[in-house]
Amino acid sequence: MEIVIEQDADAVARTVADIVEKAVRSGPTTLGLATGSTPLGSYNELIRRHREEGLSFAQARAFLLDEYVGLPAAHPESYHSVIRRDFVGQVDLDPAAVRGPNGEAADIAAEARAYDAAIGAAGGVDVQFLGIGTDGHVGFNEPMSSLASRTRVKTLTEQTRIDNARFFDDVAQVPHHVLTQGLGTISEARHLILIGLGAGKAAAIAAAVEGPLAAMCPASVLQLHPHVTVVVDEAAASGLSHADYYRYAIANKPAWQSF
Ligand code: F6R
Repeated sequence: MEIVIEQDADAVARTVADIVEKAVRSGPTTLGLATGSTPLGSYNELIRRHREEGLSFAQARAFLLDEYVGLPAAHPESYHSVIRRDFVGQVDLDPAAVRGPNGEAADIAAEARAYDAAIGAAGGVDVQFLGIGTDGHVGFNEPMSSLASRTRVKTLTEQTRIDNARFFDDVAQVPHHVLTQGLGTISEARHLILIGLGAGKAAAIAAAVEGPLAAMCPASVLQLHPHVTVVVDEAAASGLSHADYYRYAIANKPAWQSF
């Protein structure tokens, strides 16, 4: 794991966009897209580079991390709608090359299996965006999720429903269930970028990076992955006990070694 501590959210967005831009410019790339507030700055920076600097996503494809179960795809808060509004619809990424789990599937278990198979058939995810929940979830793998889990239905914790209520009129409208890539599925992506913004994520980031490998903090599974870049602002880094070392390591990063 490499821990990159940036001054603020804008600097985080630029660093994340640099990683994604390098991958996308290198050839056909499969992106793993997260929804929620955290990646928005990075998406906006990529949209800016698309508009102003000719960064093209025409050769890219993408898979979403998760989707609410039972929320129609056309609902403005379905992740299908959100990702089109926040990112895909604002760049030249072919909407037909973007797939998310179908939370309306009649046979949800079959859809989960088909989703994992589709990711595999596409050759896997090259660069995966990840946010983190206040309870340490990635995707919607809530605490006690199997560290080897595949795409499946999970029940959201009350805390996650409360955290996500800001996107709905009230918490009662937040679905109880999601179809989410499992921790095993996510771990197969070749490069994971975990983004953390704000003091509200400090405890979760510290647990994920410095805590024990434990299903109680699902994001700690990233400790097993060979290529993870954690990009955080100062506030989200405030719970890290080894922050000085992470800064030192980045400042002394060999010139030949990129993220
Ligand atoms: C969203 C997702 C979630 C969010 C997490 C943080 O697709 O998989 O894990 O990344 O809940 O949400 P925000 O970014 O809204 O704080």
